[in-house]
Amino acid sequence: MPDLRKLRTTIDAYRAKLAEQSAGVVDGPALDELRHQFLSRKRGYVTQLFEELKSFSAEDKPEAGQLVNALKKDVQETLEALEAKLKTPQKTSPAVDLTLPGDKLYWGAPHPLRLFQEEIEAIFLAMGFGIEEGPEIETDYYNFEALNFPPNHPARDDWDTLYINDKLLLRTHTSPVQIRVMEKKKPPIRIIVPGMVFRRDVADPTHIPMFLQLEGLVVDEGITFAHLKGTLEYFLKRLFGDKIKIRFRPSFFPFTEPSAEVDIECLHCGQKDPGCRVCGGTGWKEILGSGMVDPQVFKNVNIDPERYSGWAFGLGIERTAMFALGIPDIRAFYENDLRFNRQFFLK
Ligand code: FA5
Repeated sequence: MPDLRKLRTTIDAYRAKLAEQSAGVVDGPALDELRHQFLSRKRGYVTQLFEELKSFSAEDKPEAGQLVNALKKDVQETLEALEAKLKTPQKTSPAVDLTLPGDKLYWGAPHPLRLFQEEIEAIFLAMGFGIEEGPEIETDYYNFEALNFPPNHPARDDWDTLYINDKLLLRTHTSPVQIRVMEKKKPPIRIIVPGMVFRRDVADPTHIPMFLQLEGLVVDEGITFAHLKGTLEYFLKRLFGDKIKIRFRPSFFPFTEPSAEVDIECLHCGQKDPGCRVCGGTGWKEILGSGMVDPQVFKNVNIDPERYSGWAFGLGIERTAMFALGIPDIRAFYENDLRFNRQFFLK
């Protein structure tokens, strides 16, 4: 004769089975299968338990009946809940297509101007130059006066200056670092100075108000204009290739005498477009100013101009990079368009 203890064990096992099976119900047929398993008229687990009730003693029968009825209720509730769940529309997760190529990850990288500056620095480092730096906020003395621009000198107008107050300004060129270095070091001096400079210039395809310059300074005994010309020509050929056309044009800077501006052929139009927006149809574009250090500048830093001579230059880094990298508008360097920037390091 069946007993209550055995019945409870069986019912516990069916409850566990119900929980396990219902977790796998994902559609109507699976639900029907589960219903059939527990409640089918002939072989359903619950149906069979009701059959067994007949064999229980009169004493145990009421309790056995309650246990089986409780199981039946649980089964029915579980089936109803599953049915309701299947009827509510499920949020479908987008299908993952494992055959598609993955998203490309981009790592941070130096800005193209930084890479270009390093290329220039490498050429000068190989020639034995050292690298120096100076402050972007300067005094009038270093930016102008020590460089032989007395107050009210008309040449100050060529550097349209952003003043902070009466004494301080945003440096308009990297030349003040010449003075700072010569105050500290005595010849021989052979340095380059990269850095940001600021002018109230209106932006156009070849001008921006905040740009990078690279200053160069060589001071020693017996230095001549031939050293200036030879070094700058060598540098430009290393940067642009042996065939690059270079011209030295007489110019004026208060801190160099004689002075020359250096132009390279316009690589944008190949000296062929009279309407070229980069060279204005001249076929040439200025990239640097240069000259022999004025004796007055040496006197200002207590270097004997009778014994020492020197040459200096100041190159526009963006201006030069435009030609080296084939960029028709200098402003592109500062637009922060990653599609532009990535071209130069995703080889
Ligand atoms: C100077 O700034 C001098 N300090 C250069 C120098 C140094 C002469 C040492 C002699 C000895 P200039 O103003 O010409 O010179 O500027 C030098 C270079 O900076 C230019 O040839 C050009 O390449 C670049 N440049 C000038 N203005 C701008 C601008 N607004 N935007 C971008 N590049 C500029």
